Amino acid sequence: MKTDKKLFSGKTIAILTGGGDTPALNSSIESIRNRAMILGYKVYGIRKGWKGLLGDGEIVDLTNQHYDGWHGGTALNSSRTNPFPSKKNPENRVPQILKNLQRYKIDVLVSIGGDDTNGAAKKLFETEGIPVIGFPKTIDNDLRTRTIHSFKNKEIEAVICPGFPSAARGIADFASRMRTTVDSHSRIIVLEVMGRDAGWLTGTAAYGGADLALIPEFEITKEKKEAFLNAVKEKYNSSKRKSLILAISEGVRWFDDNTGKTEKIFASSEVDEYGHPLFGGVSGVVASEITRKTGLEARAQATGYYARAGRCGCYDRRMTQALADKVTDLLLRNDYGQMPVLSKVVKYEELEEYNTKSIDMGDIGNKALPEEYYDSNKFNFTEVYFDFLSNILGPQQLTVFNHNFPVVKP
Ligand code: F6P
Repeated sequence: MKTDKKLFSGKTIAILTGGGDTPALNSSIESIRNRAMILGYKVYGIRKGWKGLLGDGEIVDLTNQHYDGWHGGTALNSSRTNPFPSKKNPENRVPQILKNLQRYKIDVLVSIGGDDTNGAAKKLFETEGIPVIGFPKTIDNDLRTRTIHSFKNKEIEAVICPGFPSAARGIADFASRMRTTVDSHSRIIVLEVMGRDAGWLTGTAAYGGADLALIPEFEITKEKKEAFLNAVKEKYNSSKRKSLILAISEGVRWFDDNTGKTEKIFASSEVDEYGHPLFGGVSGVVASEITRKTGLEARAQATGYYARAGRCGCYDRRMTQALADKVTDLLLRNDYGQMPVLSKVVKYEELEEYNTKSIDMGDIGNKALPEEYYDSNKFNFTEVYFDFLSNILGPQQLTVFNHNFPVVKP
């Protein structure tokens, strides 16, 4: 939607971050803030996501303030507050939000978030005419950014969301480090990886050296479980050090022998305001079943919030700057209801505005892992996914200690 707003209007833009934090949020905020300031905007930060626009509002002034974009997480804080009525909170908070946008004289809203936060922003744009610009983020990498991955003359619809590259680096390194401990004990470690209903992040553990992987996109039925346990035994027996690292998505659907159902495993029965449950515990279930049914020693290890923690990586830093350049473009053209994304999968050096595009916020939504990226018969990721990841992470860095000591006989 175009409006008649003028260049260098000196008006006010406000930024909020919603949903789970990522290491790239402060970089996104700082990059958008810097560019908006050049255009003459006063830049506000809305604290705690949509929550900061409720009640009296919690707004801070970011204009001309020191801001460290390399620092992970979000200095604005985040929440999973839903402006619209939900099962958990039936109240319609839109009138409060509209009132505060008026009280603080906010002209443009930038919502940094995943499908939930940006979905709500899109709805405010469509139903209330609020000028919004969406900005992607999620370590789960499941927001439909329509980023094209070219592989051997094939074009695959992929996703790259700010936050994922830093989380991917963390999980790949985490898996790689596990090698020394599994080798030392000749055992199996079942690594649980965040990502909700998508396996993108779990694949980065495979890139870091995990031997087999299970993802939410393929349910582990009774038959599949049998096949998986056989694959585990075979892989273990053929491994050099009699050790394995298994990467398991937190959202995997696993057959339960007692109930006869194939289900996800949750940490609690609570759901958030967008209806999402909290996953957790699948690695423990899988590890104990491996031990019980194969006799192999298996341990569970949840990678948990490690994926979200720490500093912004270089890829994320440069990507958020390139996407913020696109925000400048949208502001100059008064083009709202849009979200900047990478148009194609590129290496670090090519993270520039000319490799970005903007998509209608009405077109976003969740995107599962493309089928080319995972082989459900081999319980593993494919070379196509590794090619995708090599653009973001560079060459694979595996932990390997080659030794073959001669055995001494008495
Ligand atoms: O969506 C990001 C994410 O980290 C998921 O991978 C995970 O399931 C969820 O958030 C955890 O949410 P919370 O921060 O509410 O514990």
